[in-house]
This record gives sequence, structure tokens and C-alpha cells, in this order.
Amino acid sequence: MYEVVRETVDFLKSKIHDVPEVGLILGSGLGGVTESFDDPVIVDYENIPNFPRSTVEGHPGKMVFGYFGGRSVVALSGRFHLYEGHPVSRVAFPVYVFKMLGVRGLIVTNAAGGINPKFKPGDIVFIKDVINLAFCNPLRGPNDERLGPRFPDMSTPTDRRWWERIREAAQAKRLEIKEGVYVWVRGPSYETPAEIAMMRKMGADLVGMSTVPEIIAASHVGIRTVAFSLVTNYASGIAENKLSQEEVIEVANRMKVRFTKVISMAVKTL
Ligand code: HPA
Repeated sequence: MYEVVRETVDFLKSKIHDVPEVGLILGSGLGGVTESFDDPVIVDYENIPNFPRSTVEGHPGKMVFGYFGGRSVVALSGRFHLYEGHPVSRVAFPVYVFKMLGVRGLIVTNAAGGINPKFKPGDIVFIKDVINLAFCNPLRGPNDERLGPRFPDMSTPTDRRWWERIREAAQAKRLEIKEGVYVWVRGPSYETPAEIAMMRKMGADLVGMSTVPEIIAASHVGIRTVAFSLVTNYASGIAENKLSQEEVIEVANRMKVRFTKVISMAVKTL
């Protein structure tokens, strides 16, 4: 995989002027963050060697370089999910590309269902820990020691110190960010009420179909990571409503400005 990542990175480096310090992976409907970048350089996934294609509505499929929150950044506007049929190693591939580009900090975002009854649609939640209910791992297979260790530590899947700085900055601006545990499921069907009841007993606060493979890969290569969910709906059975992708996109659009502020604080405080 090392050589494959190298080829992708060599291509991308020929398009940009500056090494990105921070990498962003933007979840469903959250790609709008890149509209706030200065001097953007946009590269379509289909033009990037070895890069997968994005197939989902709300995931446009562009890599955007630029300046945001006072730093040089790169964002994936549109990520890859297991339910699209991608192997899990391909879902995590962009994290290796970020690492080799020179990224020091990773910000992962997603749209999620709220399991914790205290969470409501529109809430922004810091992911303090994760549960892997997809039962697969992007590191399965031979390990390349040039990328990272065989058995990476996962005792702090997201960076507490970086989070403390973000929380302080958010409090100063009276912006509320909650905290919770995110559970990763394969999808694409949403969960049943019985499944959500089980996840709640396990200690999960949020549910979604992404983020954990990227966090695992970031632990593998040693990039500091923070992750945020935008709660777009009550999880199945938590409230009396049917779940739909339209609702997810609608809430993401409504919260665009606030969400972008949080991401900008995260970039600034790395
Ligand atoms: N379940 C799984 N994934 C999701 C949800 C959900 O309720 N909302 C947004 N992504």
C-alpha cells in the first residue's frame, strides 16, 4: 500500500503550493465547510490516482485544499462508507494520503442519530470514544511497518488535550458542544428500535455508518484526531418518527454556520 499512497501523494503535491497541516473529513451534508476556505484548490476524486469514487447524495467527491482558521488545510468533501461496497481498507485510504502529505491533525465529522435521550437534532457532539459494531477493521491483513505498528493503541481514540482547547474556545463563544460515545454500524438500513435499545445499554450515545475506520487508521499512522457528530435525528425508537436521508441533509444544512464555527475552532487550536 505504501507505494500506492506515494503515487497518489506525488500527484496531489503537483497541484498544491503548501503542505496541509490539518486534514478534515466531512460527513453527510457537511461539505459546505469548504466554502469558507481561502484560495481553494479543488481536485475531483475521479482525477486522483488510486482514489475511490463517492456514490452517495450529500457526498460530492472532491478534495479541497486551502486556508482556514489560519492554517493550511485539506478536506475530503465526501467520504467512503462500507455500505457503498468499498472494502474497509479503501474507506481508510485517505487517512494514509493525509499522513504522507504532511497532515499533523485530523478532524473527522459525521451526521449521526442521537441515542442519548438528552441529545436532539442540531446538537454538535465531540466523540470521546467509539464502539465498533461493524466488526471489521481497516488494518486487517499484512502490516506495513513504514505506515504504523501491527497493534496500534486505541486507549485514546480521540485527542483529549486538543479537545480541551476546543471546548474552552467554544465556551468563550457560548457555543455548546456535548460529549458522547459513537457506535459504528455498517448500514445502509437504519437501525431497529431493539438494536438501538441494545446500543444504549452498551453505553453508546450516537450511531452512524462512518468515522471509526478513519479513527483507527489515524491511530495506526499516529495523527492526532478529534471527531464531531452533528445529531441529525433521534435514533430509531428514541422518538416516534421515521428516519430518512432527507432529514439528515436538511438538519446538516440548517446547522452549517454553527458547525463551520466549531471546525474553525478545532483547526485554530491544533
Ligand atoms: N443511524 C445511522 N446512521 C445515521 C443516523 C442514524 O440514525 N443518522 C445519520 N446517520
